[in-house]
Amino acid sequence: MPELMVNIDHVATLRQARGTYFPDPVYAAGIAEMAGASGIIVHLREDRRHIKDRDLRMLREVVRTKLNLEMAATDEMVGIATEVLPDMITLVPEKREELTTEGGLDVASLRERLIKVVKKVKEKGIKVSMFVDPEEKQIKASKDMGADMIEIHTGRYCDAITDVEREEEFKKVVKAAKMGKELALGVNAGHGLHYHNVRRIALIDEIDELSIGHSIIARAIFVGLDRAIRDMLQLIR
Ligand code: PXP
Repeated sequence: MPELMVNIDHVATLRQARGTYFPDPVYAAGIAEMAGASGIIVHLREDRRHIKDRDLRMLREVVRTKLNLEMAATDEMVGIATEVLPDMITLVPEKREELTTEGGLDVASLRERLIKVVKKVKEKGIKVSMFVDPEEKQIKASKDMGADMIEIHTGRYCDAITDVEREEEFKKVVKAAKMGKELALGVNAGHGLHYHNVRRIALIDEIDELSIGHSIIARAIFVGLDRAIRDMLQLIR
């Protein structure tokens, strides 16, 4: 049974919609931990559209479970990560114009840069995960580059329109999870998971952690964050 890591970016999205100081993602982290989340995730984007540097610093002080910083493999972000010291980072591709992370990292083609980033971050005792599509080439490259974990991109499974397509994408996630474990990598999964599609993914034995954000924060508007997280935990368990 995987652990639930809650991404709280969209608490900050709501705050930024008005440029106020509320709702504060730091409060969300406390509530998420009390509701049973095993960790807190934030993506500090280059354009700071939701999570700000101040949030990350305060979350480092407050989070007692595990803090996972999603970030692009840039010098700026490596500087921040090695100063703030999250428990782990997840390297993701990042484009300014995208609404959300669109695809997995092309680990194989970013070899030189990623090797440097992994080395610098791991020297500080921070674990490294790579967000990848469920493809053999990407998983093997993540291992070669010294990653501790992979996060399998579940977006295509979640977005599939037909049953046939969904089944194909599901099989790819299962295969990728097994391959990750065979290579002695930690295996996480996420993107696009919600209350109606999470169960099958949660049943994959090889998956250690699920990273879920938007659907939980969206439900929290109606039922509160505590309940939204407990509902998700119940489905996963
Ligand atoms: N994993 C990664 C790497 C992401 O970039 C995101 C979105 O920030 C998530 C998981 C969570 O996705 P969602 O918000 O769709 O649950």
